[in-house]
Amino acid sequence: AALRRPYHQKVVDHFEKPSNVGSLDKNDPNVGTGLVGAPACGDVMKLQIRVDADGNIVESKFKTFGCGSAIASSSVATEWVKGRNVDDATKITNKDIAAHLNLPPVKLHCSMLAEDAINAAIADYKNKKKGAVESADDHR
Ligand code: FES
Ligand code: FES
Repeated sequence: AALRRPYHQKVVDHFEKPSNVGSLDKNDPNVGTGLVGAPACGDVMKLQIRVDADGNIVESKFKTFGCGSAIASSSVATEWVKGRNVDDATKITNKDIAAHLNLPPVKLHCSMLAEDAINAAIADYKNKKKGAVESADDHR
């Protein structure tokens, strides 16, 4: 059998005890949902954020159907977005996540999935807010 490169301990920790696994109500107007897939392997990640009136992320949950590195990356992502403003959270990059977890090059797309999921969740939240303002305008 091919010799497998062992996962870095932080990946194992996040994989065995991932933070923030679960779901938020996607119909809640203050919740943004990002659902993304990795073309390279078909793995799928859902990341959700709950945002307060000041635009700060107060809660984040994920569900990942993917490899250990994807699960670890989403776990890190949910930890890092919490407490940040939505605009600030878009600055989290897959490079930061990959460096934190010491991901090998073949696993970089797993952390990319987490970056994409954060951005998709924020875009969904912003779209909802925009929609809410527009429909309030309609009813004036
Ligand atoms: Fe949890 Fe790094 S060990 S975010
Ligand atoms: Fe594809 Fe990790 S192998 S997300």
